[in-house]
Amino acid sequence: MKKLVVLTGAGISAESGLKTFRDMGGLWEEYDVSEVASPEGWEANMELVLRFYNDRRRQLLTAKPNDAHIALVALEKYFKVQIITQNVDDLHERAGSKNVLHLHGELNKAQSTGDPELIYNIKGKDIKKGDCCEKGHQLRPYIVWFGEPVPAIEEASEICRSADIFLVVGTSLNVYPAAGLVNYVPSGVPLFLVDPQAVKIPQGRKLTLIREKAGSGMQKLNKILIENYR
Ligand code: APR
Repeated sequence: MKKLVVLTGAGISAESGLKTFRDMGGLWEEYDVSEVASPEGWEANMELVLRFYNDRRRQLLTAKPNDAHIALVALEKYFKVQIITQNVDDLHERAGSKNVLHLHGELNKAQSTGDPELIYNIKGKDIKKGDCCEKGHQLRPYIVWFGEPVPAIEEASEICRSADIFLVVGTSLNVYPAAGLVNYVPSGVPLFLVDPQAVKIPQGRKLTLIREKAGSGMQKLNKILIENYR
C-alpha cells in the first residue's frame, strides 16, 4: 500500500462547528493570541487562558466528526494513511482514523507545569486554578503555545519524507514549523490541497488544488485517489 500523508488544520473541523483561527470571524479576531496562547499570556492571566481552553473543550464535547474526517478514514482501505494535524480537537480519532500525530497538543489533555512528562486525560473536564499534578504543580492545557517548541516536529518531518502522496486540508499554512513540513515531501510526490481559499504553497510542486470546503472536497479527492493513485 502507498503511504498517504495528510496535514490538516482548523478548516477540516469547520463544518463540525469549530471556529478556525484566521478566517473572518475566526478565533484570533475575537481573542488576542498573545493573551490566550503564549507563555507570557499564561504568566499574566492564568484564569483567562484556562477559561479560553475550557470553553474550547466544552464546545468540542458537542461537536461531531464531519464528512471530511470520515472520508480520511475510508482511505485507510486503500492506503497506509498517516495524519499529521495542527488541530487540538479529537475529531480525527472519533471518526476512526488510526494514525494521528498531534503537532499542537490536545484539548482533552492537561499537562503539569512542573514536569512536562506528566500528561493527564481530562476528557472534556475544565482545568481550574489550583488543579495540580501528582507532584503538586498547577495543571495547564496540553497545548503548544506560540513561542514554545513543537516536540512532534521531528517525527512529523520524517513522516513527510516517507510520503508517496501528500494531502493538505484546511490550513492557511501560516504557522511554522508546521507550515514548513511540505518542504520535506520529496519532489515528484503528488500533492493535493483542499481549501476554499487560496493558500500559499511552495512553488514548483506538482499540485492539484481542490478549492472547496473539506466535506465536499474530500469526497471528490477520495474518488481521484482511489481511481488513479493507489
Ligand atoms: N473546509 C476546508 N478548509 C476551510 C474551511 C472548510 N469548511 N473553512 C475554512 N477553511 C480554511 C481556510 O480557508 C484557511 O485556509 O482553513 C484554513 C484555516 O486556517 P487557520 O485559521 O490559519 O488555521 P490553521 O492553519 O489550522 O492554523 C494553524 O495556528 O493559531 C494557531 O495553533 C493554532 O493550529 C493552529 C495554527
